[in-house]
Amino acid sequence: MSQAVSFQAVRSQDRPAVLVTGGAGYIGSHAVLALQQAGFEVVVLDNLSYGHRELVDNELKVELIVGDTSDRPLLDRLFASQNIAAVMHFAAFINVGESVSDPGKYYRNNVLGTLTLLEAMVAANVKKFVFSSTCATYGVPQAVPIAEDHPQSPINPYGMSKLMVEQILADFDVAYGLKSVCFRYFNASGADPLGRLGEDHSPETHLIPLILLTAMGKRDSISVFGTDYPTPDGTCIRDYVHVSDLANAHVLGVKYLLENGESNAFNLGNGNGFSVQEVIDAAQQVTGRTIKVVACDRRPGDPPALVGSSAKAQKTLGWQSQYADLESILTHAWNWHQKRHG
Ligand SMILES: NC(=O)c1ccc[n+]([C@@H]2O[C@H](COP(=O)([O-])OP(=O)(O)OC[C@H]3O[C@@H](n4cnc5c(N)ncnc54)[C@H](O)[C@@H]3O)[C@@H](O)[C@H]2O)c1
Repeated sequence: MSQAVSFQAVRSQDRPAVLVTGGAGYIGSHAVLALQQAGFEVVVLDNLSYGHRELVDNELKVELIVGDTSDRPLLDRLFASQNIAAVMHFAAFINVGESVSDPGKYYRNNVLGTLTLLEAMVAANVKKFVFSSTCATYGVPQAVPIAEDHPQSPINPYGMSKLMVEQILADFDVAYGLKSVCFRYFNASGADPLGRLGEDHSPETHLIPLILLTAMGKRDSISVFGTDYPTPDGTCIRDYVHVSDLANAHVLGVKYLLENGESNAFNLGNGNGFSVQEVIDAAQQVTGRTIKVVACDRRPGDPPALVGSSAKAQKTLGWQSQYADLESILTHAWNWHQKRHG
């Protein structure tokens, strides 16, 4: 399934670039912006299955190669024609529910696609890799806040596909010296503070955009799954980490590897849990609109609280979250939603 068309490097080849897979998606596009602001050259590879070409063209002004991570001939041409120093790998399918009903789709894309990319990297002698892993690799937490040494026991194929890649990365380090940073994110949220980029998944399954689309009248109501959890207000507590903070962590992660850091895994979370009800209340404040809520039964597999400790990323990488408060997260997301969907 190699592309018939060839491509040529359009940027200067003097300076090595970071290849960002999935750079037309939500978190990847913010990482491209952060890389550019930090002075890196960037090349994006995205098959546009869920990404947005116009954001890359209009807001990032970076070379976009439309192609798939499982297309080995394309990858070989890419690594041969571009001066790539490191890869940031965001490209994956992300819908947990779909991964349960269609696991093959997730293992094929998230595991085989990544394996193909890693093999092409080794063949091209590119051996620095920043990987988008997830708190879903931990499964149901035994204790919160979750640290990196918490047992990894995913409860759905999406989480399992990410854990499999983490295992492949450990083996590729031993066999080929490929060094990786695995970032296990909690709930990515918010948008670029200047409103250039934001979250636009289709279908949308994430709480904050669903709340904001409800505030905009694009949806009738927001469903709250479980109001009888052992939490202060009975709704689930989650850890919302601002997407620009995630993006900055990726810049630190790639610098760490380029400075010969060893393979490592880091949680990226806010450190503060917020309940679903707290998020809805804060969204009503920020938007000035009433948001209709429908209380529903608990969903199987949803733990009462999922909160991460990011102490290791702070200590080792010097990462600090700039936008840890709900008001900033919601204000940035609301500005973006009004621009995008208003
Ligand atoms: N959104 C979250 O809260 C969250 C939490 C934890 C981990 N993650 C991980 O972060 C990464 C990015 O998530 P996101 O929310 O930005 O998702 P997204 O869907 O917005 O971005 C993923 C991008 O990858 C592209 N893509 C998918 N498969 C591809 C392939 N085989 N080849 C080339 N491009 C491909 C899509 O077109 C899309 O642009 C994913 O790996 C996801 O698992 C996300």
